[in-house]
Order: sequence, then C-alpha cells, then structure tokens
Amino acid sequence: MKFYGQHILTSGQFDKEGLLSLFEEAHAMQKILEKGKKSSVLDGKVLATLFFEPSTRTRFSFESAMLRLGGSVISNADMMQTSSLTKMETLYDTGKVVSKMADVIVARHSTGGAVSEISRGSEVPVINAGDGAFEHPTQGLIDVYTIWKEKGRLADLTVGLVGDLKFGRVPHSQCKLLKHFKVKFLCVAPKGIELPEEMVLELKDSGCEVEFAENLEQAISEMDVIGMTRVQKERFSGESEYKKYAGSYVLDGEVLKKAKKDAVIIHPLPRVNEISVEVDSDPRAKYFGQVRNGVALRMALLKKVLVEE
Ligand code: NCD
Repeated sequence: MKFYGQHILTSGQFDKEGLLSLFEEAHAMQKILEKGKKSSVLDGKVLATLFFEPSTRTRFSFESAMLRLGGSVISNADMMQTSSLTKMETLYDTGKVVSKMADVIVARHSTGGAVSEISRGSEVPVINAGDGAFEHPTQGLIDVYTIWKEKGRLADLTVGLVGDLKFGRVPHSQCKLLKHFKVKFLCVAPKGIELPEEMVLELKDSGCEVEFAENLEQAISEMDVIGMTRVQKERFSGESEYKKYAGSYVLDGEVLKKAKKDAVIIHPLPRVNEISVEVDSDPRAKYFGQVRNGVALRMALLKKVLVEE
C-alpha cells in the first residue's frame, strides 16, 4: 500500500505489508523518542489539527509527534465553538481552506463520515482522528502495534474485545486491522451494544474465528490480549440509556487472577471504571505505555504520509 500523499480515513485501507512496514518505522521512531532528541525529517512542514470533539491524547499525541520530527503545528481544539462552522462554513470548504495553510490535517468529528467530507475538500492528506462511532484508525494502529511489540507476533492470538462494541470506534478499527492476521476474536459486550453484524461477517469472511461470551470472568482465561473499552456515553440518547450499560464489565484484581500470566491488557483511554486502578501496577497492564507507543506510531505515520520513500 501507498502512504505518501494519502488520506488516512479508515483502517480498512491498510494491508498486512503496509502495517508491518509502519510498525518497523514506529520502532525506529521509538528510538528517537527515547533519546529525547528532535529529528529534522519534517522540517518546514505544518500540521493542522481540527478537533470538533473533545480529546486529550490524540491531539497532543499528533502534535507531539510532529514537533519531535521538526515540523510545526497549528491547532484548533474547539472547532464547534470557535471555527467558521459557526458561520455555516461547510466541512468541504474548511478542508479546502485549511489545506492551503498546512501540509497535513488531523481531524476529529462526532459524526461518522465527517472527516471524509473534510478530506474531499482538502488538497493535502487528512488523517481521521475519530469520526463518531465509525472509526479511529490511528488508535487501532497503536493498539495493534502494542500487541505486536508485546507478543512478538500478531497471528495465533485470541483477542478479547470487551465493552461497548457497537459505539466504540476503536474496536471497529482494531477489527479491520487484526483481520489480516487471522486472530480469534472473543467478544464480550452487554446485550444491545454488541459488535455490529456487518463487522462480524467481515471478520469471518477474512477467515477469522469470532466467538461471543457474556461472562468476562470466564472468558478472560482464554485471552492473549484483553482489549478493554469504555461505554461511549456521548453516543446514547440519554443518561438512563447509558446507565443500562455503564459498569457492565470491570477488570479488577479478582477478575485478573483468571487471566493468562502473559496476557496483554490494552485500553485506548480514557477509562471510566472498566479497569480498576489496582490493575495499573500489574506487569500485564500496557495501557499507559500505549500512549508513548502512540507518539512513535504517529511519528512514523506522519513521516510516511509526508515524505516520499
Ligand atoms: C478513544 C476515542 O476517542 O475514540 N480515545 C482515544 O482517542 N484514545 C476512546 C474513547 O473515547 O473511548
């Protein structure tokens, strides 16, 4: 697959070879990161971050990645309130206009497909930093990169997807990446917010096994990867609807006793209460380490998108 000059809108655009080449690059970037030295590979390039939805990690992570590669950043963290959207500018025009001032755009929006609309107008690559309940490709990449680093492989793994598999854009992106490696998916979701049927079919069509369980305590013993996610409160029609599902699955010290000794626990964060703080000190907990991996992965992606190989 080609990275240079491309929009990154869905995890579906990655193939196995592209993924592995990105992970190798991220590995090299991790060395730059750990040395604490700035590279000049993106000297003169400008990243624009357009966030129409709240973010802590993703925006900072992209900005940190760009700055560490010698590039610059222009940023709007509150597009809904402070951009020309309030004057009825279209997403298409916003993409067009910002692309005249930046070399790459990273955008997040609460509506599925909105980032694609920005990319239609843009003359520079647009990276999807989350669009509604659709996808969050770079978080999916970080998760899979973390698994690759920790387990040393991606094939022959049982990956648990635990939590809100309907509205969680991260599990959707994880599925589209992991399907290339014939992993076995073990889905643990409350009734009503299960993995969408089309996604299950897509995984099965790719030759993956997909199993379902209701009880996390029982299912966890089979998982090589324990992929936790929060219930996506902002996607429900109201508080009472959300409360039906909140707190359905909690990974605490007791539940963790049933897990494999070499399991890897991932979570895109933010967590609400689905992982107890006592789990943080367990060597299997990789979710804070993932944040660091995310900077390296995004450094690799920005380089591949902006520099012709
Ligand atoms: C995720 C997101 O925004 O989808 N967060 C992130 O980018 N790390 C996960 C979430 O909000 O649950």
